[in-house]
Amino acid sequence: MNNIVWPSRLYEFLSFIQKSDLEKIILDCGAGGSRPPLALFHEWGYECHGIDISQTAIDSAISFASEHGLSLNLKLGDMRDLAYEDETFSFVYTQNSICHLKKEDQKKAIDEMLHVLTPEGILYADFMSTESSYCGLADLGKDIGQNEYHYVDEDGEDVLHVFFDDDEADTFFENAEIIHKLKMTRALKIPRNSVDVWHFYYAKK
Ligand SMILES: C[S@@+](CC[C@H](N)C(=O)[O-])C[C@H]1O[C@@H](n2cnc3c(N)ncnc32)[C@H](O)[C@@H]1O
Repeated sequence: MNNIVWPSRLYEFLSFIQKSDLEKIILDCGAGGSRPPLALFHEWGYECHGIDISQTAIDSAISFASEHGLSLNLKLGDMRDLAYEDETFSFVYTQNSICHLKKEDQKKAIDEMLHVLTPEGILYADFMSTESSYCGLADLGKDIGQNEYHYVDEDGEDVLHVFFDDDEADTFFENAEIIHKLKMTRALKIPRNSVDVWHFYYAKK
């Protein structure tokens, strides 16, 4: 399905996992930033944990949590090597973050997320589509192959952006069951008439 309406991905995930009987314990991989998405799950009574590879991003999320009195258990970490016991979390997600890793590293990260999920636990991950307008724009940065590009962002930082064809990311979930898959398109104002396209995956361990 290819929609033009853009509902919040995490509200959808929340509404999906609210139907589950599993313990309410959740991990966010790439949890940093000034508005940490984990706050949503905290509001709904989940025990929250989050890791991010950037000290600045994690500090910013910790400031938000302490300002609002939220217990989010945020720490520095790499989703390719998660420092948690196997089968710790009923729910794991990564939003708008795994797309900054090379495809081989994305596979490692998904394997790690599946390890820390409990049996029957649910994983949400999103992947950028090759149909996004800025996939392959030569003036934005360097092509390192397999639809993986080094782009220089607004702050002058070199950030990897990795794009997938339809169904390409299915191979990451060979050790799980894909229970829901959606392709979403969002119209962007800048650059004019451009679109942002994502593949959303829900998988059960
Ligand atoms: C665009 S931000 C999105 C942040 C947040 N998930 C959100 O949706 O608001 C991407 C985040 O992924 C983090 N990140 C990138 N590679 C990572 C890795 N290997 N492990 C953990 N976090 C990573 C970055 O530091 C950054 O904070």
